[in-house]
Amino acid sequence: MNVALIGCSGMGVHHAGHATKAGFKIVACGDAIKERAVELASQYGADATTDCLSLCKRDDVDVVAVLTPTPFHTEYVVAAAEAGKNIFCEKPFGRTLEQCNTGIAAAEKAGVKLFVGHVVRYFQEFETIKAQIDAGKVGKVGFVRTYRGGICPVGAGNWFRDWDMSGGVTMDTIIHDFDWIRYVFGDPAQVFSQNLREQFDKAIDYAMVTFRMKSGIIVNTIGTWAHPGGFRVKVEVCGDNGMLQFDSSEAPLSVMMRETASGMPGMIVPGSPVGVSPYELEWHDFKNWLDGKGRPRVTPQDGVWAVRMALAALESADTGKPVAFN
Ligand SMILES: NC(=O)c1ccc[n+]([C@@H]2O[C@H](COP(=O)([O-])OP(=O)(O)OC[C@H]3O[C@@H](n4cnc5c(N)ncnc54)[C@H](O)[C@@H]3O)[C@@H](O)[C@H]2O)c1
Repeated sequence: MNVALIGCSGMGVHHAGHATKAGFKIVACGDAIKERAVELASQYGADATTDCLSLCKRDDVDVVAVLTPTPFHTEYVVAAAEAGKNIFCEKPFGRTLEQCNTGIAAAEKAGVKLFVGHVVRYFQEFETIKAQIDAGKVGKVGFVRTYRGGICPVGAGNWFRDWDMSGGVTMDTIIHDFDWIRYVFGDPAQVFSQNLREQFDKAIDYAMVTFRMKSGIIVNTIGTWAHPGGFRVKVEVCGDNGMLQFDSSEAPLSVMMRETASGMPGMIVPGSPVGVSPYELEWHDFKNWLDGKGRPRVTPQDGVWAVRMALAALESADTGKPVAFN
C-alpha cells in the first residue's frame, strides 16, 4: 500500500520510518519547504513536491498521511478524502471543532477511512495500566493524575510557540492524555483549568487541568513546556483497592531526540523499551482496518473529542470558570 506524506520534518521523518516497517511504501513526500520534501523523499526513493494538494490526487497513492502543523490538517484531510484516499492524520485532528467536523464530513461523504494518531493508546505502559484497571486490580477508581512534558518544541518556523497555531501545551501535548483518559474512564462532565501562558514568554507554557468525569472520577492532568530539557510522563491511578503508578524517569522508558531537518534538536518524542514502537503499532492497526480486519483503536470521533476537551480546558483557563460538557 502506497503512502504520500504531507509534512516532512519532525513527525514526517518519524512516520516515514514506522509506516515502512508496518509494510507501507512511501511514494511521495510533500512539504511547503522544498528542501524538506526532497531530503525525506531521497531516503525512500519517493517523489518530492511542494504542491501537496496535487499529491493527494496521484493514482498510485492509497493513503495520505497528514503531518503538518495542526491548523493545516483539515485542508489536506479534505483534499485527500475528495480524491478518494484513506487518511492518517496526526493529532490534534484539528485546531477548531469546525475544522474537525469538516474533516469528518469529507471522509464520510467520500467513504474513505480516517485514522487520527492518538499514539498513547499504543504505548504498552499505558495499555498495561488500562488492562489492570479493566481487570479490577485497583478496585473502583476515584482519582487519576497524569503528567507530560519537557521542553517547548521548536518545529518549522517556531509554529509551536504561536499560540493560535498550536494551542500551547494543552492543545498540543496533554491532548494525548485527554484522549487516553476518555478511552479508559469514559466521557468528561466538567473541566477546570489554569495555565501560565499570559505570564511568561510564549516559549513557556504550563497547564493544570482537572476533569470530573461523568462516572464521578476526578482526573488531574499537568502539562509542561517549561523545562530546560528532557521529557517525562507520569501516571497515578488510585482505586479503593490500591494504586497504579508509572514514571518514565524511573522505568526503563527510553528517550530519543528528534532532529529537525536543519539538524537542530526540535522536540523530544517519548520512546519505548519494547520491541515495536507504539508509532509503528498505529500503522499496523490502521493497515488491519484497511485490509478489512477489524476496527482501529482510535476512531475519528475520538479525535474530535480530544480536541473538544482541549478547547474546553483552554476556555476554562481564559475565563477562570469551569466548563461543562453537554
Ligand atoms: N504523536 C506525537 O507524538 C506527536 C509529536 C509531535 C508532533 N505531533 C503533531 O504532528 C504534527 C506535525 O508536528 P511536527 O512536530 O512534525 O512539526 P514540524 O514543524 O517539525 O514539521 C511540520 C512540517 O510541515 C511543513 N509545513 C508547514 N506548513 C505546511 C503546509 N501548509 N503544507 C505543507 N507542509 C507544511 C513544514 O515545513 C514542516 O516541514 C502536529 O500536528 C503536531 O501536533 C505529534
